[in-house]
Amino acid sequence: MNEALLFHPVARDDGLGELPIAAHLMAHDLVLWRDASGAVHAAADRCPHRGAALSLGRVRGDTLECAYHGWRFDARGQCVAVPALPAFVPPASHKACAYSARVAYGLIWVALTAQPESTVPAFAAEHDARLRKLLCGPYEVATGAPRLIENFLDMSHFAFVHEGLLGDRAHASVEPHTIEFTADGFIATGCKAWQPQSTLQATDGAMIDYTYEVGSPYSCVLTKRAETAPDTEREAIAIFVCPLAPERSRVWIRLALIDREASDASLRDFQDTIFRQDQPVLESQRPRLLPITADAPVTELHSAADRSSAAYRRCLRERGITFGVC
Ligand code: FES
Ligand code: FE
Repeated sequence: MNEALLFHPVARDDGLGELPIAAHLMAHDLVLWRDASGAVHAAADRCPHRGAALSLGRVRGDTLECAYHGWRFDARGQCVAVPALPAFVPPASHKACAYSARVAYGLIWVALTAQPESTVPAFAAEHDARLRKLLCGPYEVATGAPRLIENFLDMSHFAFVHEGLLGDRAHASVEPHTIEFTADGFIATGCKAWQPQSTLQATDGAMIDYTYEVGSPYSCVLTKRAETAPDTEREAIAIFVCPLAPERSRVWIRLALIDREASDASLRDFQDTIFRQDQPVLESQRPRLLPITADAPVTELHSAADRSSAAYRRCLRERGITFGVC
């Protein structure tokens, strides 16, 4: 698998208006632009004429106009006008490097190819009308994307990093849970954690039942409910990570919640609090690249409580993922 050919989140959809914007993905500079019909497009942020940043340009109808000499490019990257030569018909070789763009979950997703091999990662709860959707982040983190996904899967840090909210030292044990490998990754079920305050609105501690699903290298979806609550009260949280560089990531959290009462700001505050607890630990981990290969400079120790993390590492290895790992 070439992870560059998969879709990754790069920007909030509502952050792209009439002007093009710059974005970054896997050490590539991108321009994002929205045509007159509202469709979103992505390309390398470099004009093929003299190398100016296309993100400095502007949108003209269904084309992106370079700020330097006004060359215009369509959604496929084809140059369609050279203003200094009005009669000139640009040949097929006059092309900017166009990528594939999609909009999902309030985010713009880009694959660094004109012919993507897959779609954006699945997040079934997004389509559940009972659940309220909210996007949190972005959080800028000085570590590789796989470290963030592994942390999201890790239940044994709750009692220490999130003590008083998602965990409690007196209930630090992690029960055995089930891992089932799928075509795209794995699902972990039967994951239980005692949580003093599992959500913004929770007033009592409760045993929370989690499932985790990994279906792409840099995203993960969890669903959770109090063990005593019916399955209809299951909420979902997705982490979508943009691998900016091997050791630098941008993170969004997509919530699909039952809660209709709390304000957006208070829900975001709660999520920000949780993330700020994780961040210093994440940025302290060395190496920042997840060590999964036989040549990794270090070996890390594993316990039986790290089953999900072990499954994740196995999936990355089997898929031949190289970005963000060592
Ligand atoms: Fe873009 Fe000349 S550099 S039109
Ligand atoms: Fe955490």
